Amino acid sequence: MKANINGRTEDIRAVWFEDGKVTMIDQRELPDKVTIVSFKDYRYVAEAIRNMTTRGAPSIGATAAYGMCLAAINGDDIEQAAKDIKAARPTANDLFYAVDYMLDDLSKGKDPIGSADAYAQSMVDKCIKIGEYGGELIKDGYRLMTHCNAGALATVDVGTALAPMRKAHGDGKDFFVYVSETRPRLQGMQLTAWELLQEGIDHAIIPDGSSGHFIRKGVDMIIVGADRIAANGDFANKIGTFEKAVLAKEFNVPFYVAAPISTFDFNTKTGEDIVIEDRSEEEVTMVKGVRIAPIGCKALNPSFDMTPARYVTGFITEKGILKPSEISKVRE
Ligand code: MRU
Repeated sequence: MKANINGRTEDIRAVWFEDGKVTMIDQRELPDKVTIVSFKDYRYVAEAIRNMTTRGAPSIGATAAYGMCLAAINGDDIEQAAKDIKAARPTANDLFYAVDYMLDDLSKGKDPIGSADAYAQSMVDKCIKIGEYGGELIKDGYRLMTHCNAGALATVDVGTALAPMRKAHGDGKDFFVYVSETRPRLQGMQLTAWELLQEGIDHAIIPDGSSGHFIRKGVDMIIVGADRIAANGDFANKIGTFEKAVLAKEFNVPFYVAAPISTFDFNTKTGEDIVIEDRSEEEVTMVKGVRIAPIGCKALNPSFDMTPARYVTGFITEKGILKPSEISKVRE
């Protein structure tokens, strides 16, 4: 992705391995500053996933792979490292997929850095394919909507939901994106809008509660990412996704979920079985360290919601676009 660092536009990934350290953009500091942080111990990498220094399912997966790589290099107990890293966040399937991938590679004696780098690169390659398939769906003059951040920040580079937009923009198509702000952590406003701005893609930030208003007025397609897709096509994504899917069906707006195969979890039968992470009350009651709710009020903060498969027009994957009824092909 492009990022302005100290006045220069540079190409940068969300996470990478450099000088023996897992290195990443501190996404909590965006859009004000592009701060790079690095860690030498897998425990800090697990903490960086938990406290959302890095976030977004595929980036969480790549970060976890690099965390496992550090554990192997440092001679840590690999099984314990796998346990600790998997405990960082409960919903994104990529976290578990990546740790298991590294356990398998390490058990075969493969080079830890080579394996983790290959994992991160494969994620970028998959996103490029997602962009190619999904980009075909975007026509000149379209008004798109997305939620949360399923861009390069969330996927090492390129993005899932944003990949078709990058591709269509690169192909010279003219379109507009409604970016819902994504309370409480504002990934839409602070991360997606930042990415679209760097790319020169026309967009506007909208309050979460205005999605229905804009969908009714005329949205041509909604594209979101996913944290986990169950065997029946139900999926979990950032809180606020479900209501957009229901509204899309009401107004006949195609609703697409862009995700790599690593996000599909065939051990989870339906969306009801997906663990939804609850995060702290403070994420809701405070903004940038300032309390905005009355003292004494409780807050509830489910980080994700579950959207039933019947609301999904198609899953845009690196293997092509699949209807919910076709996702058993992914397993094959
Ligand atoms: O809590 P976050 O910021 O990790 O949640 C991210 C999302 O919900 C994304 O939409 C999802 O991980 C897909 S990222 C390609």
